[in-house]
Amino acid sequence: MKVLLWVLTLLFTTFFPAGAAPGDRHIVIETQRTALVIRVDQAGDPTIVHLGPRLQRTDEYAGVPENGKRGEDYTTIYNSAYTPAGGRNLLEPAIQAIHADGNPSLDLKYVRHETRNEADGVVLTTVFLKDPQYPFEVSLFYKAYQKEDVIEQWSSIRHSEKKPVRLQKYASANLYLPAQRYYLTNFSGDWAREMNPQEVELTAGLKVLDTKLGTRAHLFQPPSFLLSLNRPAEEETGEVVAGTLAWSGNFQLQFEVDPLKNLRVIAGINPYASEYTLAPGKELVTPALIFSYSNMGKGAVSRNLHRWARKHRIPQGEGNRLTLLNNWEATYFDFNEEKLSALFKDGKKLGVDLFLLDDGWFGNKYPRNDDHTSLGDWEENKQKLPHGIGYLVKEAESAGIRFGIWLEPEMVSPKSELYEKHPDWVLKLPNRPEYYFRNQLVLDLTNPKVQDFVYGVVDNLLTKNPTLSYIKWDCNAVIYNAFSATNPNQQHLYVEYVQGLYKVLERVRAKYPTLPLMLCSGGGGRVDYGALKYFTEFWPSDNTDGLERVFIQWNYSYFFPAIATCNHVTDWGKQPIKFRTDVAMMGKMGYDIVVSKLEEKELAFSQEALKTYARLKDVIWKGDLFRLASPLTGDVASLLYVTEQQDRAVWFSYLVGNRYREGSQAPIRLKGLSPAKRYKVQELNIFPGTNSPINRNPVVLSGDYLMTVGFNPMVDARRASVVLEVTEER
Ligand code: GLA
Repeated sequence: MKVLLWVLTLLFTTFFPAGAAPGDRHIVIETQRTALVIRVDQAGDPTIVHLGPRLQRTDEYAGVPENGKRGEDYTTIYNSAYTPAGGRNLLEPAIQAIHADGNPSLDLKYVRHETRNEADGVVLTTVFLKDPQYPFEVSLFYKAYQKEDVIEQWSSIRHSEKKPVRLQKYASANLYLPAQRYYLTNFSGDWAREMNPQEVELTAGLKVLDTKLGTRAHLFQPPSFLLSLNRPAEEETGEVVAGTLAWSGNFQLQFEVDPLKNLRVIAGINPYASEYTLAPGKELVTPALIFSYSNMGKGAVSRNLHRWARKHRIPQGEGNRLTLLNNWEATYFDFNEEKLSALFKDGKKLGVDLFLLDDGWFGNKYPRNDDHTSLGDWEENKQKLPHGIGYLVKEAESAGIRFGIWLEPEMVSPKSELYEKHPDWVLKLPNRPEYYFRNQLVLDLTNPKVQDFVYGVVDNLLTKNPTLSYIKWDCNAVIYNAFSATNPNQQHLYVEYVQGLYKVLERVRAKYPTLPLMLCSGGGGRVDYGALKYFTEFWPSDNTDGLERVFIQWNYSYFFPAIATCNHVTDWGKQPIKFRTDVAMMGKMGYDIVVSKLEEKELAFSQEALKTYARLKDVIWKGDLFRLASPLTGDVASLLYVTEQQDRAVWFSYLVGNRYREGSQAPIRLKGLSPAKRYKVQELNIFPGTNSPINRNPVVLSGDYLMTVGFNPMVDARRASVVLEVTEER
């Protein structure tokens, strides 16, 4: 008998080594290097037992111990793949519902799952769950991008109960990570000081990152985070997850260190003031959490996200972008046809592709001469522009550059004809005084008529001016006094606003698939991969001070690729034009300066820089980014973009401190090159009249040497910014 027992135990532990029990099944979601594994036990509960490096043998996932739990999980679902509230759950739920009969509980049992190839290297796994007591179903979607090591996860909820079900929470994703310690980096800010990172060690309990602003929703907090396991995040080593929610409205990211010291992550739409009433037969599809895991640090996860975004998300992510001259800081609201025509010529002289006419071109009853009036009245101001936009487009084109325009179509000024005609299109409370953000109010995009209007603004402009080549889509206000005059369900307002916005953008994209669109929100008030499905690029900040931008762009670069990051050379800050230009080159470059006021050498430098940029832009936009030296921890910031073929690289270094003798006093080690290749290092963007000590003694060095010993870009107070081209010598 004893022997039999022993044999049985041995057999059992061989097939179900540590965690799994007989009958458990495993749903394995894999990319090239990573895996997310869901275990479904005999009770039908789906739990996450692995999120990390992929195992070579799929059958060994069955041996993964019960999610590294260190102690007793009273509920057995601390690590639920989608934690339902109201039953035996004791922790933060992913979903909370009140059924048609008033019952406030949910249980979600595995029904089945399916896996299909969506495209080359894109595998979608869907896990179907159902409540045994109610006709209430949840599907969990995991889209795995093999080559990029990125997983996109979302959920959908539906039911066929007799009456509507009230959803009090409806997250997109629910993850579980066991480690000794957890370090969370989030990014906070405000206008002109976006994306300031803070890294904290998570302690027992709940840490919540969220926004309740409605529109311009990411002003204080974007939906992007870094999570590092066991030690603070490092650039090229350590286990890091980069996550970002593809949602342009209120979001909530929750990080809970549970009683077993494991980390639960729940991400989705913010349930704040947003109880969602789901009618029978209808489906609520949540936005996706996009995340990448790597055991090679922040560098690897951000390169994964960049590659994913270029290939799978951003329109023309692997295509071209236009350099431009913007008139905002050159003229503000004060311009006319003559002034603009002169600026077109200036743009041409400078060498950009396009002229972008900013705010102030519209409104007649209330002309837009400052930011107090006219939003909503999208007709050319006859005094400033008597011949209309069509004339300007032609003028620009005959000067040899294309024409683009600024719009803020979701907004309305209290002083506008639109407001007078359609007060019920405006979000505001009927019984409270209006309260403004940048002197304006937000239109009710939950109303289909307003959606038609907003779409019409864009469509009319493009129909009348088919060669219009660029739109900057701004969004400068948050939602105060959230209330819709027409929506029967006020609790749906925040969610349906964003859905309404996406509907409009879908229509715009369906008709104008290749139009370059800039996502702007008074700077970086709206930067997320929900919107970047439609926009070719985003405006990180109105702060274009070169020094500030080193930091702002550095922090956005964890999540967003250079090709989508608009950087303009302006007059902000104290840095010389060379510094500002070098910084702007690390992305999609543009200008917002008075060209005619440039000194001769400055103009010559800028013209040359644009030519250099045309030659290098593909390396910067489509190459892999290696952050070599951080401005947050040292006095030099250094970043390198390397082509996939490892034959070309562009290397930017900046002085960010100004204490005595600060600079790059030692070599900086490069990354991402091929050790066997030999590279020539040459300085670019040399300001007229200055010399490059690097070009004086040109060097050819192996990738091995450059990555092991490094190279000193010789950054110091006299050479505060240095751009080097690293080219394979064949
Ligand atoms: C916002 C944008 C700026 C500019 C102004 C115009 O602040 O971020 O770039 O377009 O609006 O009013």
